[in-house]
Order: sequence, then structure tokens, then C-alpha cells
Amino acid sequence: MSEPYTSNTITPLFSAGAIEKRVSEIGKAIANDFALVTPECPLLLIAVLKGAFIFAADLLRTITIPCCIDFVHASSYGSEKTSSGSVSIKHNLTITDRHLLIVEDIIDTGLTMQQITAELLTMKPASLGICTLLDKPEARKHPVDITYTGFMVPDTFIVGYGIDYNEHYRELPFLGVLNS
Ligand code: IMP
Ligand code: MG
Repeated sequence: MSEPYTSNTITPLFSAGAIEKRVSEIGKAIANDFALVTPECPLLLIAVLKGAFIFAADLLRTITIPCCIDFVHASSYGSEKTSSGSVSIKHNLTITDRHLLIVEDIIDTGLTMQQITAELLTMKPASLGICTLLDKPEARKHPVDITYTGFMVPDTFIVGYGIDYNEHYRELPFLGVLNS
């Protein structure tokens, strides 16, 4: 594995405390908006691996209505800090007639989210919402209808709190900008 720690510095953007507060606010809004779901048909969070795994785990624990979680794996191919035009999506979900909320780390160009929603909609869920920890609106090329946003960020490269650069920095408890 390459060793990026010596050549990159990280400028903190959102502290662990600020993230915890915002995640809790989103969890309350979700519980409020989906108050009518029942234990027989709980809300289904679908977290996008790998980047959203910490966000989804924290978010799940703030939601006070019947709720389940499942995962899709999305990876884009391209150079290290840019999204490419090709996204591979792997999942094994049964979601017909379910209320879905996709949980994502970052929406950048919007390509990944557009492809995931198109794929999930073919299975006719009852509803489909999108919850992203970070939104980079300046980078958008493909429109996405976001239901819940944690924080808006500038068009910079972000790491920490599950989000990586070449598989590094996911372990950081805060979010920061990677300076190269
Ligand atoms: P999009 O398809 O261009 O919207 O890219 C979305 C995906 O690219 C995200 O789910 C991340 O996995 C990755 N990505 C986009 N911006 C960043 C970033 O600033 N840091 C780390 N990964 C990013
Ligand atoms: Mg992602």
C-alpha cells in the first residue's frame, strides 16, 4: 500500500462533534417524515459502500422508527481524485413496495447516484429518497434530487469519517480537505 501520510496534509472542515450533531438532526427529520412506517414494512436504508459505512451506522442509531439497513457497492473507475464516466453497482436487494432511503457519502458529478436510483427504480419500490452526508453542487453534471443533506462542501477533495483517498483516511473521526 502506498504511504500518503507524508506527502499530504488535511485541513479540518467539520469536527467529530459537528458531524454528530448534524447526523442526529437528519435522523430526527427522517423519523418525523417516515412516522407512518410500520414494523411490518419498515423504512429501508440502503448504504452505498464503502464511503457511507460510518455515516450510515451513525445515522441508523439516531432513527427512532422501524428501520432496516442493506448495502449496495458502487465503484467508479478513473484517475484517483476524479469520477469517471463508468460506475459499477453490485447488490442483492429485494425492494419492491418498500420505502427506500439511499445513504451516500458524497454527491459530486451525480453520476453514481443517478445510476443507483435508475437501477433501484426498476424494482418498483414504494418510494425512493436520497440522503447524502456531503453535497458538492459546483461539480454537478447529472441532476440529483437530494432529500437530506448533511453539509454543502466546495469542489475540493474530502477525506475522513469513512471517506477515502486510495483507501486511506477512512479512520479519521472528522472531515477534512486533502491538500496535495
Ligand atoms: P459522482 O458519481 O461524481 O457523484 O461521485 C460520487 C462518488 O465519488 C462518491 O460516492 C465518492 O465515492 C467519490 N468522491 C467524490 N468526491 C469525493 C471526495 O471529495 N473525496 C472522496 N471521494 C469522493
Ligand atoms: Mg461513494
